[in-house]
Amino acid sequence: MEKRSFVTIADLSKEKILYMLDMAKEFEKNTNRKILDGKIVATLFFEPSTRTRLSFETAANRLGAKVIGFTDPKVTSSSKGETLKDTIIMVSNYADVIVMRHYLEGAARYASEISPVPIINAGDGANQHPSQTMLDLYSIYKTQGTLENLNIYMVGDLKYGRTVHSLLMAMRHFNPTFHFIAPEELRMPEEYKIYCKAHDIPFFEHTEFNEDIIADADILYMTRVQRERFTDLMEYEKVKNVYILHNSMLRKTKDNMKILHPLPRVNEIAYDVDSNPKAYYFQQAKNGLYARQAIICDVLGITLDDIK
Ligand code: CP
Repeated sequence: MEKRSFVTIADLSKEKILYMLDMAKEFEKNTNRKILDGKIVATLFFEPSTRTRLSFETAANRLGAKVIGFTDPKVTSSSKGETLKDTIIMVSNYADVIVMRHYLEGAARYASEISPVPIINAGDGANQHPSQTMLDLYSIYKTQGTLENLNIYMVGDLKYGRTVHSLLMAMRHFNPTFHFIAPEELRMPEEYKIYCKAHDIPFFEHTEFNEDIIADADILYMTRVQRERFTDLMEYEKVKNVYILHNSMLRKTKDNMKILHPLPRVNEIAYDVDSNPKAYYFQQAKNGLYARQAIICDVLGITLDDIK
């Protein structure tokens, strides 16, 4: 069988994205399907995680696979100097698929080129987080009934936030209009604005964050300022609380509008938003289970027909 890794959302056609969302929908109907009995899923997390790792592991367990892996590279032989290449080759001796989060941009692509088993990118530095994007797309589809023609407002750390980079690329198929709300220091990188222009995607940039700016949003995608990506923590201190969404700011928003956040949040969404029906971030994280069941199955060659 051809080896299929899941490294960047840019590799996925519109048809493939919609197909994966159909798979996620099937898994939401019934998460417990022992179709991976006898398979081993390895989760290699070189960076901290709560949702991504636990939802991948839950996905694997609910599909009947067994899970091996680590959550702290300090307890592995990489702390003795073992290279990523050797680590991947070693783990592929034991596992049928490798889910990896790594601090280096491009690490997942590199791993996919040397690994005999499929690699699933669970986040590579500030680059991509494609499995998050699948659950974001699923959440958008569930709440809006469509992925087409939406006004998507991305707020916060657009420079280092890999989730917004992946989501922007995935949405190219669906005629979005983007609004990028960020302080000067954390603006959407030039390469992603060039990407928008190349795909005829309209975008607007703002530094103000208030109820008038967000009034036309269908999706308000909040992000955390990524402390771990700053080399100068003084710079982080200057921008860490630059935008905080309060419930009072939602008065003028559209009825269909939903607030997404990849989580974890720090201060950027006040707790008084949680009880607003427009807050969707905890359900969004739950959708990660179904989206990741679809991803694991797809890289292992299991089709929608196999699970229906
Ligand atoms: N959204 C996300 O990647 O969360 P974790 O860092 O907890 O996995």
